[in-house]
Amino acid sequence: MNLSGKKIVVGISGGIAAYKCAELVRRLKDQQCEVKVVMTDSAKHFITPLTMQAVSGEPVSDSLLDPSAEAAMGHIEFAKWADLILIAPATSNIIAKMATGIADDLLTTLILATPAKVAIAPAMNQQMFAHPATQRNLKTLASDGMAIWGPGQGEQACGDIGKGRMLEPNELVEFCTSALKPSVQPLLGKVVTITAGPTREALDPVRFISNHSSGKMGYGLAEAAKKLGATVNLISGPVKINAPNGINLSHVNSAVEMRDEALRLATESDIFIGCAAVADYRAADIAEQKIKKQGDEMTLTLVKNPDIIAEVASLTRNRPYTVGFAAETQNVEQYALGKLKNKKLDMICANDVSQAGLGFNSDNNALTLFWHDEQISLPTSGKKELALTVVKAIASKLD
Ligand code: PMT
Repeated sequence: MNLSGKKIVVGISGGIAAYKCAELVRRLKDQQCEVKVVMTDSAKHFITPLTMQAVSGEPVSDSLLDPSAEAAMGHIEFAKWADLILIAPATSNIIAKMATGIADDLLTTLILATPAKVAIAPAMNQQMFAHPATQRNLKTLASDGMAIWGPGQGEQACGDIGKGRMLEPNELVEFCTSALKPSVQPLLGKVVTITAGPTREALDPVRFISNHSSGKMGYGLAEAAKKLGATVNLISGPVKINAPNGINLSHVNSAVEMRDEALRLATESDIFIGCAAVADYRAADIAEQKIKKQGDEMTLTLVKNPDIIAEVASLTRNRPYTVGFAAETQNVEQYALGKLKNKKLDMICANDVSQAGLGFNSDNNALTLFWHDEQISLPTSGKKELALTVVKAIASKLD
């Protein structure tokens, strides 16, 4: 039994798919896990607390302010008790409340109060699901680290056909199982070196050339590699975010400094990931004094920076498995594949940065991973969640 001994709160909000929750709880109980059910007031219009009590074998909780229940087990204790809180069905209303941190009933309060993993199984009319407000809220939940399971496609209770059906109980049980399975650490004993953030190429003592990289994607990769058991070196350009605990952080400014640090660490690494947005060019001469305004035009002479990742990938001794990123605004696949080949990489993460809200300096991202003989598309999600998927994909390719 994959879920044996696990503790799951099933939170039911008010949608027609709530009728599937009796089956969901029974299937979870088949796996010998403990299940407690929490219902919103509107959920009770779709399935009765008595039904849920019968299938879960536990009293159903629905109120924050119920003195008799508080005397038994403080409701908020559910937040600490649970290994997983699954909101199924998750209506557009509860998704919006969760995205803004509203806690006006027991279920939404538990969601804010829990250290456990929170997952939602969205279910609503296809038009409501496609609405920009719902999509915006889902992105927020994903970047807050919540898991979004579904929805499925098909005929809906209202007669519409489209995306918005709650996943079937057996599919949700599968998701619970993989979310709660003991974490494996495929990178235990491995060393991973990652570049992140922008580089700054000085023009004079007060000016520089740079870009909008925030470091979030690269720092997410560092956190993910650490989580999967690796010793992590993070070579970071200037960013405003904090590094994850327990990693070896080197601060650099320019591409040349980043290259020196990368080559120092690469040969003792099993994996090298170049996520930094490295300036391709730097000033031919850095002025010693602040450059003064001169006329209507000014010409800067730039020289090419070293290609850090190409140098790492060309190492002949102790070469790490080398992964690049390609931030592109057009012909994404073609340019990414060109870089995979020309830089002699093992894998490249193609990043379409033409879409608002993705890529540089955003919380979310979407990537296509290319190897020489395979590709995988990773849809939009929070950068931390995406980073974990990327690092797992890399780990799966090591001997
Ligand atoms: O930092 P965030 O705000 O989270 O944004 C993340 C990101 C958009 C910066 C990241 O996901 C990303 O796509 N990084 C690569 C950015 C880029 O501009 O790549 P590129 O196409 O210029 O370079 C291709 C590859 O060569 C990259 O792995 C890059 O690190 C590397 N490179 C490039 C130039 C150079 N001189 N040396 C290099 O090593």
